[in-house]
Amino acid sequence: MERFSHDLVIVGGGAAGLRAAIAAAEESPHLDIVIISKVYPMRSHTVSAEGGLAAVLRDYDTLDLHAFDTVKGSDFLADQDAVELFTREAPKEIIQLEHWGCPWSRDPDGRIAVRAFGGMSVKRTIFAADKVGFHLLHTLFQHSLKYDNIQRLDEWFVTSLVREGQRVIGATALDLRTGTMAGLTGKAFILTTGGAGRAFQFTTNGMIKTGDGMAMAYRAGAPLKDMEFVQFHPTALPGTGILITEASRGEGGYLRNADGDRFLKSYVPGKMELGPRDLLSRAIMTEIREGRGIEGPYGPHVHLDLTHLGRKVLSERLPMVTELAEKYVGINPEEESIPVRPGVHYMMGGVHTDATGQTSLAGLYAAGETACVSINGANRLGSNSLTECLVFGARAGLAAGRYARQASEVELPTEAVQAEEARLYDDLLGRERGGRGVAEIREELQTTMEDHVGISRDAASLSEATKVLARLKGSFEKVEVADKDRVFNTELTSVLELESMLTVAEAIVHSALRRTETRGAHFRTDFPERDDENFLAHTVVTQGETGPEIEYLPVTITRWKPEARVY
Ligand code: FUM
Repeated sequence: MERFSHDLVIVGGGAAGLRAAIAAAEESPHLDIVIISKVYPMRSHTVSAEGGLAAVLRDYDTLDLHAFDTVKGSDFLADQDAVELFTREAPKEIIQLEHWGCPWSRDPDGRIAVRAFGGMSVKRTIFAADKVGFHLLHTLFQHSLKYDNIQRLDEWFVTSLVREGQRVIGATALDLRTGTMAGLTGKAFILTTGGAGRAFQFTTNGMIKTGDGMAMAYRAGAPLKDMEFVQFHPTALPGTGILITEASRGEGGYLRNADGDRFLKSYVPGKMELGPRDLLSRAIMTEIREGRGIEGPYGPHVHLDLTHLGRKVLSERLPMVTELAEKYVGINPEEESIPVRPGVHYMMGGVHTDATGQTSLAGLYAAGETACVSINGANRLGSNSLTECLVFGARAGLAAGRYARQASEVELPTEAVQAEEARLYDDLLGRERGGRGVAEIREELQTTMEDHVGISRDAASLSEATKVLARLKGSFEKVEVADKDRVFNTELTSVLELESMLTVAEAIVHSALRRTETRGAHFRTDFPERDDENFLAHTVVTQGETGPEIEYLPVTITRWKPEARVY
């Protein structure tokens, strides 16, 4: 068994993880930092972000307006002190990225260009064509290479966190290339492993987004917050779920139903295609349910019409959308509309943290989609999440770095690593377990989440989901791993990922069942109204002896009293 020891361990190498590492390294050149990730950093899901990141850079815009848009978008569930902090820090992060070489798109006068995005009152989304994640991740990754005190463990899967009392002091990890287990001692840990969209059947998320960090924190005793709020992006390609960026609508694209009608005039007349994602996704599903969808080989969809935008806009501002449409659905968007339907895109919920990323366990921090600060409340506005990764990644890096500098030395108990070795090697790989295969259980999980915990839910569908999940957890106890090899055993990795998804799914479903109101992305057909009297509160879910235990925390309101959310 290998042993590693570092001051600061960052799990996940996407935007939030890299930004955290850079912030910590800049402040403390002697801090020994490691980024450990199940994929090489440039394969993190950040790379697939397309449309942009929001920040106030123009004179016509204000921090207050960005904050208000975010709070309204969140259906008043965001903590307003965190949102104000976020909008204040955001412009600095964009300029910082500019200085680190991020190739932003520009206006003819040389200024960083901005585009419109859903739910934003003015153009404030910064972009690099429609390949923002790629350029952002490259910039962060390359900049991280400058620091000698940032090391990396690429293609290592962190399987558990180890606690001493109420403090996290270590982790166990599997080297995917060799199948070797290691014990990782750390004075502080930051979880930046993204969300868990893969727990659902139809998603824009890459295969790696299986909620590992959320599940690990939850199993270690750190509560999750607001897990019932799962965002569906209105425009994913049927079949693959590949994201067709909201920037297509920011640049002027239309959504049309089978009659060619821009149906959003009946739902969000003041915003049309630039309405928030929760309302647009629900509108599309209503159109489909009422027979105004278009039938296709992958089920009903609506049309995203970009034909009027012209070649210049498509090639300069939306080159990836153009390529995706051509390659995946054989459509030239200059001439034909693109089939689209809503797909799971983002989790507003995550590990409960404060605005420094601190969780309820000492030495454990979280940032990015893994965390719930909360600035997104019940519905995130498009283009706020990459900025969130930067602002709160940096804050978590600083806070965790400072904690690590003053924290006492720790030693990882040998038994903790041995127990995990026994679980993986002896139990999962060592025996015939006689159960169902990982793909079969995963598929049932994904269809259950899609069918019962999707855009619309009710008590019956959610109760059914709790029953299926309980059964699937039972099946998981006996999951059969047919491949007994240790080297790059992708079946074993899938089993660990399935465990994460089952854990996160249970937290989502139980949180959703208890919230008997409709707010943001949580649309209860049996409770269609928002209920501020009883549910202007964050759901906090902890793993109890017999299942998830739920309590509520007040929402921080600073300046914007909840009001009807009309667009
Ligand atoms: O549509 C998009 O480009 C997605 C952006 C986001 O989720 O922030």
